[in-house]
Amino acid sequence: MAELIKEYSLKKHNSFGVDVKCSYFFSFTEEDELLDLIKDNHLLGRDVLVLGGGSNLLFVEDYKGLVIYPEVMGIDVVDENNENIVLRVGAGVGWDEFVEYTVNNDWSGLENLSLVPGNVGASPVQNIGAYGVEVCDCIYSVEAINVETGEKIEILKEDCDFGYRHSIFKTDFKKMFVVTYVNFILNKSFEPNIEYGSIKSEIEKIGKISLRNVRNAIVSIRESKLPDPKLIGNAGSFFKNPIVDERIVSLIRENYNDMPEYSAVGGIKLSAGWLIDKCGWKGYKKGNVGVHKEQALVLINYGGASGMEILSLANEIKKSVFMKFGVNLDMEVLTI
Ligand code: EPU
Repeated sequence: MAELIKEYSLKKHNSFGVDVKCSYFFSFTEEDELLDLIKDNHLLGRDVLVLGGGSNLLFVEDYKGLVIYPEVMGIDVVDENNENIVLRVGAGVGWDEFVEYTVNNDWSGLENLSLVPGNVGASPVQNIGAYGVEVCDCIYSVEAINVETGEKIEILKEDCDFGYRHSIFKTDFKKMFVVTYVNFILNKSFEPNIEYGSIKSEIEKIGKISLRNVRNAIVSIRESKLPDPKLIGNAGSFFKNPIVDERIVSLIRENYNDMPEYSAVGGIKLSAGWLIDKCGWKGYKKGNVGVHKEQALVLINYGGASGMEILSLANEIKKSVFMKFGVNLDMEVLTI
């Protein structure tokens, strides 16, 4: 049952575990419940924030608007042929539960995105990506509701403007649409994508190359490098990997011969984790906040930190990377 709640704590709704409140909170399991809220003009003049798993947000103060939390469930087969299957998945389904379901059914495409935190509805918004795969590779379309007009739309992948940690839901459609379902197209045959980093060697430790073993390998790599947000407050990568021009890269190369670099649209992509690591931040701890000891791209709330404390550590890191390398880091995490 949908409910509009006043003064609601968001501590359990952000993976940093920051203790803030929103003025109004609305969760719904059926599209009609959201449509009723819109019809009753409950949204008029209110600032709206759509929350998924809250695993990519940093609240620096109470949110004075309405938080909408889609809990639409269900995974349904909507089409299939000999090669592919199309699944319609509710925005509220947990991301990793969905990946587990696809692997159990022998449908491939999303296994490299195992253990990414958050819900299905948030996956297209920031085009989640890991280990050589981005979710847009398997998206067919995204269904959403316009919070101003109540109009239901289906946006085909081609129109979502997907890029590195980017989609139209972060720009033109920001604050305007609530994602209710995502339609995925997956392969019935297994096409391994295991060139990234140490996936291959991790699989060799487990056994043969299979869909299940790719998932298991990714899970164990992630568990060894990234802190579990259920146990330690964090939001995965805090910064995006910067794309810089050749001139800056060659200056850095003069002093370092071990810098990871990848060709990318618009320049060369560097590893923000490596840059932060080289500035000496890995394992840093001050008060309630710190930098993860296995992956410098992950900032941590050791308990009781405010959003401002985390943000001020992020700013210090950003400044030191700029001073040392002349590279500007952009946040992947959205500050609210
Ligand atoms: N590195 C260091 N020190 C560090 C961290 C990384 O030297 O503290 C080096 C690694 O040794 C490696 C390179 O940097 O050579 C890249 O590291 P890694 O493979 O861990 O990936 P990343 O670029 O730091 C990105 C994504 C992650 C994703 C991994 C794996 C971004 C911002 N982050 O991290 O995504 O899991 O690749 O594909 O693109 C997330 O978005 O929350 C996230 C965790």
